[in-house]
Amino acid sequence: MAYIFEEPSRTFNEYLLVPGYSSSENRPENVSLKTPLTKFKKGEEPAISLNIPMISAIMQAVSDDGMAVALATEGGMSFIYGSQTIADEAAMVARVKAYKAGFVVSDSNLTPQMTLGEVVALAEKTGHSTMPVTDDGTAHGKLVGIVTERDYRLSRMSLDEKVADFMTPRAELITAPADTTLKQANDIIWDNKLNSLPLIDTDDKLAYMVFRKDYDSHKSNPNEMLDEHKRYMVGAGINTRDFAERVPALVDAGVDCLCIDSSEGYSEWQALTLKWIRDHYGDSVKVGAGNVVDAEGFRFLADAGADFIKIGIGGGSICITREQKGIGRGQATATIEVARARDEYFKETGVYIPLCSDGGIVYDHHITLALAMGSDFVMLGRYFARFDESPSNKVMVNGSYMKEYWGEGSARARNWQRYDLGGDKQKMSFEEGVDSYVPYAGSLKDNVGLTLSKVKSTMCNCGALTIAELQDKAKLTVVSSTSIVEGGAHDVLQKDKTPYVSNAN
Ligand code: IMP
Repeated sequence: MAYIFEEPSRTFNEYLLVPGYSSSENRPENVSLKTPLTKFKKGEEPAISLNIPMISAIMQAVSDDGMAVALATEGGMSFIYGSQTIADEAAMVARVKAYKAGFVVSDSNLTPQMTLGEVVALAEKTGHSTMPVTDDGTAHGKLVGIVTERDYRLSRMSLDEKVADFMTPRAELITAPADTTLKQANDIIWDNKLNSLPLIDTDDKLAYMVFRKDYDSHKSNPNEMLDEHKRYMVGAGINTRDFAERVPALVDAGVDCLCIDSSEGYSEWQALTLKWIRDHYGDSVKVGAGNVVDAEGFRFLADAGADFIKIGIGGGSICITREQKGIGRGQATATIEVARARDEYFKETGVYIPLCSDGGIVYDHHITLALAMGSDFVMLGRYFARFDESPSNKVMVNGSYMKEYWGEGSARARNWQRYDLGGDKQKMSFEEGVDSYVPYAGSLKDNVGLTLSKVKSTMCNCGALTIAELQDKAKLTVVSSTSIVEGGAHDVLQKDKTPYVSNAN
């Protein structure tokens, strides 16, 4: 007879944390959110730890190289989407690894023949007012000058005027060699009262621009995820079909961690993929697996050698897997059961396998709940899709700015066939995700800062200064449906409903 789980499967919204004793030490500034990304033996350190417990979802609408740089700057990690060609995915990884904080490859470049009208249009489009002029108009062409706002006055000049006639020419510019360090570049900028400094290759081509403000921001990001060569760290999604070609390409591009991306992780295909990676790379290539929602699935992937394990089926905001296929489990119940299995595994083997709760985070406090229930970090799709740094379009819908957000199992993305069909390449006949809008929310940095200040504050209420301590000390209670109503503003007529409604970020 079929196995029946007697307990209903619950979501994060059905739980609250009950505060514990907090001492005077329990202040947000004392909280560390550092958390393991990859498995480790008792008494040892993980090969990779995250500085904040957030990774961005393996999705076209979420994780490209731009998102990866922004999130690594804050201390998390992106997993670049695998639903693209191997060459394109590897190129995104390579761009993150080549990105040197503070060294900018200009995205607003001019040729001497362009007109003032074109300069103004480009400045409006990119929001950047400093534009290098190169012989061929590319970011690495021969530098012939620079245009900044100080070089033109719209009220006095014709829009037909040529860049060559009003730019500051190369002969008047201060430049430095491409191998200048950020510290040296900054000294030159300050000594000469510059706003930017072009760095030039030996063959006289533009390599990077260094801006005064970027150097400042570099210094103010103490959580940055950097590898031993001070490059940003980045993950990438793989599938269980083309791993023999995709994994080597991603490893060559410098990827720091892989993750098998599938809605159903308890499968022989995942074990075969993990085995192939171990056979070819030993433990030097780190790889997460998933998704699973019970102890059995966890044990399978742990024994198969996963470096971390993702939890969650059907809880994603764009996900219709439960409706379409009738599989899944409430995200809170799944997290709690898998975390118990992980703790038992740790006791038995002395190997700690980090867990990632993936999907279904709606409120910031759901992150704290997921951590308290035993996750070491969370994967977020909708959350990150709302920011400037996500790759999707920002559009105006009914008078409000929105960002597009679509599932990897939606018709829009599915020609890349995320869902494992035993290695055959035929297209899916039905969708498991939708195409949607999410409210535009501004910059990643501001939002992540606010979210984590709430997480830290709640951790203090629970008497925890680390995520491990939270997992140990947290007291969780199931809430009744009437107490969920009590938890929001109630029995008052709110003057301005908007902030309360948008509380679900
Ligand atoms: P969110 O943070 O609630 O938006 O959930 C993001 C997660 O949903 C991803 O990390 C995936 O695990 C999952 N997901 C992405 N695309 C689809 C889809 O099309 N169908 C079902 N689940 C999806």
